[in-house]
Amino acid sequence: MSFDPSNKNQMWGGRFSDKPADIMEQINASIDVDVRLWKQDITLSRAHAQMLAKQNILSQADVDTLLKGLDMVEEEFKGGTFPLRREYEDIHMNIEARLKELIGDVAGRLHTARSRNDQVATGFRMWIRDAIDTLIEKIEALQEVIDDLSDKHANDIMPGFTHLQAAQPVTLAMHLSSYGYMLNRDKLRFIGCRDRLNKCPLGSAALAGTPYPIDRNFTAEALGFDRPTNSTMDGVSARDFANEFLFDCAQTGLHLSRLAEEIILWATPQFNFISLSDQWSTGSSIMPQKKNPDAAELVRGKTGRLAGNLIQLMTVMKGLPLTYNKDQQEDKEPVFDSFDTLVLCLEATKGMLASATFNTARMLAAAEDGYTTATALADWLVMELGLAFRDAHHATGAIVKMAEDKGVKLSELSLADLQSVESGITEDIFSVLSVENAVKSRNG
Ligand code: ARG
Repeated sequence: MSFDPSNKNQMWGGRFSDKPADIMEQINASIDVDVRLWKQDITLSRAHAQMLAKQNILSQADVDTLLKGLDMVEEEFKGGTFPLRREYEDIHMNIEARLKELIGDVAGRLHTARSRNDQVATGFRMWIRDAIDTLIEKIEALQEVIDDLSDKHANDIMPGFTHLQAAQPVTLAMHLSSYGYMLNRDKLRFIGCRDRLNKCPLGSAALAGTPYPIDRNFTAEALGFDRPTNSTMDGVSARDFANEFLFDCAQTGLHLSRLAEEIILWATPQFNFISLSDQWSTGSSIMPQKKNPDAAELVRGKTGRLAGNLIQLMTVMKGLPLTYNKDQQEDKEPVFDSFDTLVLCLEATKGMLASATFNTARMLAAAEDGYTTATALADWLVMELGLAFRDAHHATGAIVKMAEDKGVKLSELSLADLQSVESGITEDIFSVLSVENAVKSRNG
């Protein structure tokens, strides 16, 4: 019985005589989303075909035709002329159907010793692997901007905060480089995810392996995997690699969101720690004085999508029996969306930061405002006079209160004032009461 392309159900062979209902076709089709796997699908089909020839499962002549056909399909994708057809459901069936149109019946031999289940599991891992490589590049580019800014502002003092209250003086470099360290952990997480997912499920076939004398090491190596997956059933069914990727995206986005929140706060006239360039700000249609940090707000806002995508796929997977279930076709949209979203957020954060101006004079003044050297004072009482920290804390509290009552900074109190609280205090204490010296005194 030959294949009638107008009746998609005949892809399944002679068992089907009727076409799918329209809505069935609509709910079943994933081509609009998984078209993004086209490159991976062609690449893995090439490796599979070459393996079939090497193992004498297919003739070299047939495989040469298949490879030529795959080249033609690739050209069509590159040239934007590949006909995407919903009646062929997904990227795998679209490519196979097109291959048949281009090279004839031999196209039907490509699916020997494989199933769409191991095909999609393999292609999806390959796609995420590439996505991770791109994300690592983008993370590193942002880290570079943060490193440059940290070098530039190594000695610029600002208040460090806890509870968003001025706590102790720090440098802008200390503050910014914290985000560099967060991003570094994000990068390491992606590297770990890549390492764990880089096992090749191809050859698992539908779920139970295949009787053909295939060479799984060959395809795994040809496709850049470390080795084949061990369990064929787990191989077609596992999606924890996608969840892990989604978590890593969400966590990176969450870090960017914290940074975005600081940019938003710092750009307010009340803080006035940072000025965003015009390129990275928007105006208000009604309030002419406003310059809004929309990009930072959107980076903060998009973290909701990233977290949502993780929850989406975890929820899809949570009740699925082994092995493949069609529910799993819902795995790609969140992964693609998280990738696109995170690329955008990384690039926007980089652009915003690289072009921003830090108002270091204002930061220094803010550090001097809030009695931020009180802890340095207490530490001095401990280290120089041998007070217990709790007693030093108490005495310092009294000194802060006195400064507050007099409306002066700690460094503006007289020695006599200080001695009225703690008689052992000497001139030396003034060395830690300036914010510069307070920062320098902390070398651990
Ligand atoms: N488009 C499908 C997916 O992404 C491919 C696998 C289909 N397998 C099947 N047994 N229907 O999940």
